[in-house]
Amino acid sequence: MERTFLMVKPDGVERGLIGEVISRIEKKGFRMVAIKMLRISEELAGEHYAEHAGKPFFDEMLSFITSGPVVAMVWEGPGVIQSIREIMGATDPARAEPGTIRRDMGTSISRNVVHGSDSPAAAEREINLFFKDSELLD
Ligand code: TYD
Ligand code: MG
Repeated sequence: MERTFLMVKPDGVERGLIGEVISRIEKKGFRMVAIKMLRISEELAGEHYAEHAGKPFFDEMLSFITSGPVVAMVWEGPGVIQSIREIMGATDPARAEPGTIRRDMGTSISRNVVHGSDSPAAAEREINLFFKDSELLD
């Protein structure tokens, strides 16, 4: 069964949007198999966003993602990786479709409420960065 990694970023936690994000995914019929709240370390942030190292927004993104608690989750279901990307919407809330999380709740390209894996390889890598196998429930 396909699985993906989803995270409510510090802006979403701070603004009380955890429930709304979870609700939208649950209503779509997907199943949560893991969840935890944590404060991301500099090291974990660097690994998680390794593909963006050296980009102009990298340093600011790292300080933002480590600035407060996040809620990390694993979701399961057919086509869940692509479906959650669609429910999230485009990276920049101003360009995201109406009805997506980022369009409805995001406030800027950096404060866009959620992260979701963009491919099967990314999903596996990100799930393993944040969760032990024993934390994933059936
Ligand atoms: P990216 O992987 O391109 O987007 P997505 O989250 O949709 O997969 O970028 C990762 C995060 O980096 C993005 O969610 C927010 C931040 N970011 C910026 O702050 N400024 C930017 O110009 C871009 C492209 C991303
Ligand atoms: Mg990405």
